[in-house]
Amino acid sequence: MNTMTSYQAKHFNLSGLTGISDQTLDMHFKLYEGYVKETNRLTEKIAEFLQDGQVDQDEMPAYSELTRRLGFEYNGMVLHEYYFGNLTKQGGGEPPRNFAFYKAVEASFGSYRLWKTDFVGVGKMRGVGWAICNQNPLNGRLSNHWITLHEVGNVAGFTPVLVMDVWEHAFLLDYKPAERPKYIDAFFSNVDWTAVEERVLHV
Ligand SMILES: [Fe+2]
Repeated sequence: MNTMTSYQAKHFNLSGLTGISDQTLDMHFKLYEGYVKETNRLTEKIAEFLQDGQVDQDEMPAYSELTRRLGFEYNGMVLHEYYFGNLTKQGGGEPPRNFAFYKAVEASFGSYRLWKTDFVGVGKMRGVGWAICNQNPLNGRLSNHWITLHEVGNVAGFTPVLVMDVWEHAFLLDYKPAERPKYIDAFFSNVDWTAVEERVLHV
């Protein structure tokens, strides 16, 4: 495969977070690298089908299955990059009042407190997936979304501004499965509000 078209795993320097151990992060980075690898592998496999310029009828079942899995692997890769990218050991607290993010939160939810209640509520939903605060690039409005697995529930064209992994692998070495709220508190102790602010579009 042309290396220009393959994805490389990014490196995140996150050791020393509050309430999310380095052991958890090391394991999580390895899982993330698996998504990068699978995204490249699936892309390569699909390209093989196209090499003769067409998708033959007998290739269709295998081609279809690989293509369906692309959404899982791609979102697994990209969402982890957003997630690690919005954490820092210097993070936490509330976003500064003068941030465009804070203003968009107030415009969309009325108050930061209400926005956070919703985001945390989404994060506590039963099931395997993600809590994401998205921004609509057309009007700047923020909305919080539940994503099942990695790919079910993403809104086309919206920009993720805050992304929280709530798969159990994100916290199982540090907390019990039933202690997801403690992990969510830990997540908020490490949020890099500057990284969030850099994602916000000025609409
Ligand atoms: Fe994860």
